[in-house]
Amino acid sequence: MGTTSPDLFVELDRSRPRGLRSQVEDGLRAAIRDGRLPPGTRLPSSRALAVDLGVTRGLVVEAYEQLAAEGYVTTVQGSGTRVNDVCAPTAGPGPVAEGPADPPLSLDFRTGVPDLGLFPRAAWVRATREALATMPDAELGYLPPAGLPRLRAAVAAYLGRVRGVACEADQVVVCNGFAHGFSLVLRALADRGVRDVAVEVPGYDDPRNQIAWAGARAVAIPVDAEGVCTADLAASPARAAVLTPAHQSPTGVVLSAPRRSELADWVRAVDGWVVEDDYDAEFRYDRHPVGALQGVLPDRVIYHGTLSKSLAPGVRLGWLVVPPDLLDDVLAARKATDGMTASLIQATFAVFLERGDLDRHLRRARRAYRERRDAVVAALARELPEARVEGVSAGLNAFVTLPPGLDSGEVAVAARRRGIGVYPLADRLADPGLRARSLVLGYGRFRPDQIDQGIETLAAAVAGLA
Ligand SMILES: Cc1ncc(COP(=O)(O)O)c(C=O)c1O
Repeated sequence: MGTTSPDLFVELDRSRPRGLRSQVEDGLRAAIRDGRLPPGTRLPSSRALAVDLGVTRGLVVEAYEQLAAEGYVTTVQGSGTRVNDVCAPTAGPGPVAEGPADPPLSLDFRTGVPDLGLFPRAAWVRATREALATMPDAELGYLPPAGLPRLRAAVAAYLGRVRGVACEADQVVVCNGFAHGFSLVLRALADRGVRDVAVEVPGYDDPRNQIAWAGARAVAIPVDAEGVCTADLAASPARAAVLTPAHQSPTGVVLSAPRRSELADWVRAVDGWVVEDDYDAEFRYDRHPVGALQGVLPDRVIYHGTLSKSLAPGVRLGWLVVPPDLLDDVLAARKATDGMTASLIQATFAVFLERGDLDRHLRRARRAYRERRDAVVAALARELPEARVEGVSAGLNAFVTLPPGLDSGEVAVAARRRGIGVYPLADRLADPGLRARSLVLGYGRFRPDQIDQGIETLAAAVAGLA
């Protein structure tokens, strides 16, 4: 039976396994997102809401703290907790309202996917055929939860070779991309009593949403030109941190050598873990990418790799490299949930990797993306010379700081009117000043000539604003 708060419509179901605090958070989050609690609304005091819902006051205080950490509300000592002006949470590109007379987009610099037209279909078909021809029947049955031994060995060798990851094949857990692997890791960390997990701001929203969903607490740690601010991390209650050290998402900065060493000091001092999200390290254009953090902190780093940028999100394949003392817990989470990744996909990718098809694809994709990034940088230098592309030459997105006096939201609306989709940084936890001057341009899907035209049109839209 549910209990309903007459003012806030928070429904609690005490028979559900998901904790009451999570249910209170979910109810408030939903009410804020769908506008039942409009911006500026003052929430009841924690005491009043606790009485209303029949829960402890501490539980409501914790729920309000979590929503504040996610940017949904602000609590001011003495004047209570108010709803912020937020749209649907995302740390990727922010939403841009479409006007009634806006033309269809001729170019959409939305971030998130690689150029799916580059997917090496012929090589994948060959690998599938070979996998099917050579797989023992037993591999079409249930596999061990960590994955096909042959693939785990191939992944361990590949990561050692290209990312400096130091691991044995039996530390590799094959999973269905970062999102899935992280859910297993969160569970294992929760079993070790980790409640506070640091996240980068600005940063990727998926880990934050998962942390909230798991009933843990996301602790926002700022990122500057050297990567995550380790001093803030050390001052926080976090015992785990989800980071993108090789190429911070979305600012594109690389974690500096001094910060790496401070991070190592921190993680040892708190007896904690770093979750290394190595989502796009294959795409560094000016030099070899910095090695994975896992290579220098193998007992403290849980490494995540994914094919979502290097091949396609639809392959739904990734891997974890887990320190030996956490491995059983991660595998227990795997056994208790989906059990295994499709064996046909695992066998196909093992062949693909062993035949050198991934290396060949990456060489080709890297050349294409490098040209596209160079086109963005050159076109911006020509058309909007005061704009700056931040971060290193890598990845599929450009993090752009606009010339002074321009507002990213206004620029996005003006560009939308001319059929070009550009998006402000949408991370609600990020500094509002940073959001107002930053655009995140996903250029991976366009030819250099399209990029030239798109940036020319963007510049015309900006000129129109002046
Ligand atoms: C920072 C970051 N990490 C990881 C991923 C990949 O996630 P998944 O492997 O779940 O598709 C993405 C995809 O957009 C990302 O932006």
